[in-house]
Amino acid sequence: MDLDKLAKTANAMVADNKGLLAADESTGTMGKRLQSIGVENVESKRRDFRELLVRAKGLGQFISGVILYDETLRQKAADGTPMVKLMQGQRIIPGIKVDTGAKDLAGASGEKVTEGLDGLTERVAEYVKLGARFAKWRAVITIGPHLPSRHCQHVNAHALARYAKICQEGGLTPIVEPEVMMDGDHDIDRCDRVTTQTLNAVFDELFAQDVALEGMILKPNMVIAGTECKKQAGIDEVAERTVLCMKRCVPSAVPGLMFLSGGQSEEEATARLNAMNAKFGSTPWKLSFSYGRALQQSCLKAWKGDQANVAAAQAALLERARANSAACAGAYKKKAA
Ligand code: 13P
Repeated sequence: MDLDKLAKTANAMVADNKGLLAADESTGTMGKRLQSIGVENVESKRRDFRELLVRAKGLGQFISGVILYDETLRQKAADGTPMVKLMQGQRIIPGIKVDTGAKDLAGASGEKVTEGLDGLTERVAEYVKLGARFAKWRAVITIGPHLPSRHCQHVNAHALARYAKICQEGGLTPIVEPEVMMDGDHDIDRCDRVTTQTLNAVFDELFAQDVALEGMILKPNMVIAGTECKKQAGIDEVAERTVLCMKRCVPSAVPGLMFLSGGQSEEEATARLNAMNAKFGSTPWKLSFSYGRALQQSCLKAWKGDQANVAAAQAALLERARANSAACAGAYKKKAA
């Protein structure tokens, strides 16, 4: 294992107030996104959208890496240039989602386990040849009246560590993503407890399986109340609770925490990250972003599947990317409406 190389990539991912664009929606999930703007889920449309993302001029100033889905890593832009080459031209590091999705967990009603370990060693070797330098695996933890079960946290933590070790052996820096979902009416205290428990389970397994913490990135959820909870916490409370939770659970050897947005609005995701860095950010690791929806929502809406709207869509993406980069420095100011 080349730890220097893994750590170098991890540090580059969180360098200079930059973060990640998660554009690794599976074909099914991408279908939902395209449906929301009335566009058919066909390969050419998925390519057109992702091509406009990676061609946005100057994106590399704010975005260190883009997480791709298998199809995109192999894809060529409309003019025949490989997508990976377009990214490299902007000094953006290509990454790859390597899990094959969250499936129903046997014996645990309503809970999921993420699959994709079979053949992973071989796939990692191929992805490295195709130009990827980091990888992502997302585990899903659901909060409910009797959920999550310890069993679900344990199997997901085990799989995350197995994945991370395989990636490190194969030369890809792993993003370890245990997502505690926002769905439900639970309060912020409950999210805090479940996130703490989940992260403990994950780091236990990472230690047990000898994953090098210096050569990985953690992609956690923020500590927030469920979307249906009547009492929503303010920006500063979310920021403070999140940083405290991370300080309890995440060893200082991890170079960076790159949060997921998980269904927060674009503005919420930026403002909360900004508050963490502005007010509570004396931390051993960088606090950055790895947003999917919170970077792409307004861009997708501006595009509407029409070539004529590419410039407007790219401007919307760049605006969110710039805002989140500022949030990494605690220097974000909301634009007056
Ligand atoms: P969201 O920011 O939309 O949650 O997506 C991030 C991601 O990569 C989820 O795995």
